[in-house]
Amino acid sequence: MTISLTGFMGCGKSSVGQRLAALLCCPFMDLDSYIEDAEGESVSRIFSSKGEAYFREKEALALNALVQKGLVSTAATELVLALGGGTVTSGESAGIVRENTICIYLKASASTLAANLSKDVPAQRPLLSEAAAQGEEAMMRQISLMLEKRDRAYMNCAHIIIDTDGKSIDEIAEIIAWEIKSFHPFHACP
Ligand code: S3P
Repeated sequence: MTISLTGFMGCGKSSVGQRLAALLCCPFMDLDSYIEDAEGESVSRIFSSKGEAYFREKEALALNALVQKGLVSTAATELVLALGGGTVTSGESAGIVRENTICIYLKASASTLAANLSKDVPAQRPLLSEAAAQGEEAMMRQISLMLEKRDRAYMNCAHIIIDTDGKSIDEIAEIIAWEIKSFHPFHACP
């Protein structure tokens, strides 16, 4: 079974994903890294040279390829997959995610996201780099604006929603592992 993690940039998809994979003793994959390897280009370069629409197509193609290879599935292989923050804003990608994974939304408030992103800013996050250059207030405005538009897409795609405000990476991963194990017998760690 594939567990996918969705949510806004800075919500902790990659950190929680790696911790969760360790708890469940299964591999971890990051969709952005998979696309970067396939394209031979960084996400930010893909955005600047070919634009967001092209990147969204690549996300959908990558998800389809992973499903075709049997790597992403609700059956067989066990995998934790961190999606990009905008993956499920594409109807096509959201459909693939919803059908072939158990999707978890790491829900965070704009202020939590802004705090997280201030430690780990936007070279790799082209949709926030302009606001980041203008300072904290502009960042907060941009995050709130985008989050308001995207929250419904995350909610609609997710099978499980975790409110992450005030929780550590370890706590979030443990909550998810507990929820998952309640309905799916993951192989015990050796
Ligand atoms: C994006 C989020 C990024 C990356 C790309 C676009 C978005 O992933 O896919 O920059 O649209 O929110 P992270 O959420 O891992 O930063």
